[in-house]
Amino acid sequence: MEDFPSLDIDTPALLIDLDVVERNLDRMQKKAESAGASLRPHVKAHKIPELARLQIQMGAKGITASKVSEAEVMADAGIDDIFIANQVVAEKKIRRLAALSRKTDISVGLDSRDGAKILSEMFSAEKETIDYLIEIDSGLARCGVKPGRPAVELFKSIEHLPSLRFRGIFTHAGQVYGSTNLGEVKAISRLESETMLRTERCFEDIHVHPDVVSVGSTPTMRVWEGCVSVNEIRPGNYIFLDAIQIALGVAKPQECALTVLATVTSRPASGRAVIDAGSKVFALDKGAHGKETTRGFGIVLGRKAVVDRLSEEHGILALDTDEKLKINQRVRIIPNHACTVINLFDKAYAIRRGRVDQELKIAARGTVQ
Ligand SMILES: Cc1ncc(COP(=O)(O)O)c(C=O)c1O
Repeated sequence: MEDFPSLDIDTPALLIDLDVVERNLDRMQKKAESAGASLRPHVKAHKIPELARLQIQMGAKGITASKVSEAEVMADAGIDDIFIANQVVAEKKIRRLAALSRKTDISVGLDSRDGAKILSEMFSAEKETIDYLIEIDSGLARCGVKPGRPAVELFKSIEHLPSLRFRGIFTHAGQVYGSTNLGEVKAISRLESETMLRTERCFEDIHVHPDVVSVGSTPTMRVWEGCVSVNEIRPGNYIFLDAIQIALGVAKPQECALTVLATVTSRPASGRAVIDAGSKVFALDKGAHGKETTRGFGIVLGRKAVVDRLSEEHGILALDTDEKLKINQRVRIIPNHACTVINLFDKAYAIRRGRVDQELKIAARGTVQ
């Protein structure tokens, strides 16, 4: 991997290697297809409509979003099948959801009777109908009802509500980010799917057949072996991968498509170099979902160096004694968590074979509402 010294762009800058992106998308698309499942990538990982469109061109069924505002940006860019894998309960947001449902195919997560009631009331008032999927907690202990009968009980308590249409069940086994070895990742991947199989069977006991049984995170899907009941997968980070995925054992550096290009601004001591990218570029994540998975704040490509510390505008590299980085030399760094880094930039440079192919606006950055 090169440091792209010839690129005429200022630093710090975000680079997206399009060849690597296409390989990552192709691999996951093929995995979904061979397991008989649709791919519905989570776009919070890239927040770029052009990349969402590429995912769909390559075979994805639609996209997953985490917020109404993220979905709005994607719908404005012409994406017409969006699942918001989250609870939408505030009246203001439900009104926006209803507006979205008039122009695009939209579905939403749900995990409570109270949440269902407010959705139903407001969609009835708007004379619209919304598709929903019940969220199942497969071990992350975030949102979601318990698998099996509790999920069926929730369904039975809301099935009579007007303006809601049951589409299926979904889960995200994000606890995988706390794994310490590949064996644990594989076990959580199996657990994620088996939890849904068990829950689907409970629905079948009452003669209800969920159209969609949806699972997914990047680590659990990178090692996934398929499951009879699962017919949709929702990884997001797989498009770029990052140092956390490498630490979990599910990715290699050459598979990481997103890098930060930075410049050495100071060599104040032997064994120490300072770059122009700090926590306002890399964020402080050392793992996802509050777990600590990585050493340092990113992987410096082709150099015997680690990103040891961050201030807001400075990254402090710890260098091996024979590493000869000089002032004004550039380094490329795989960030720990691509999803948070993408949200910190207005644009990224899409690169092909060492040249800028296009500038991509990160149109959905900051869409937290
Ligand atoms: C509900 C849901 N689905 C899918 C994903 C995608 O997982 P990953 O970021 O591991 O690709 C996430 C990520 O947080 C999520 O919260």
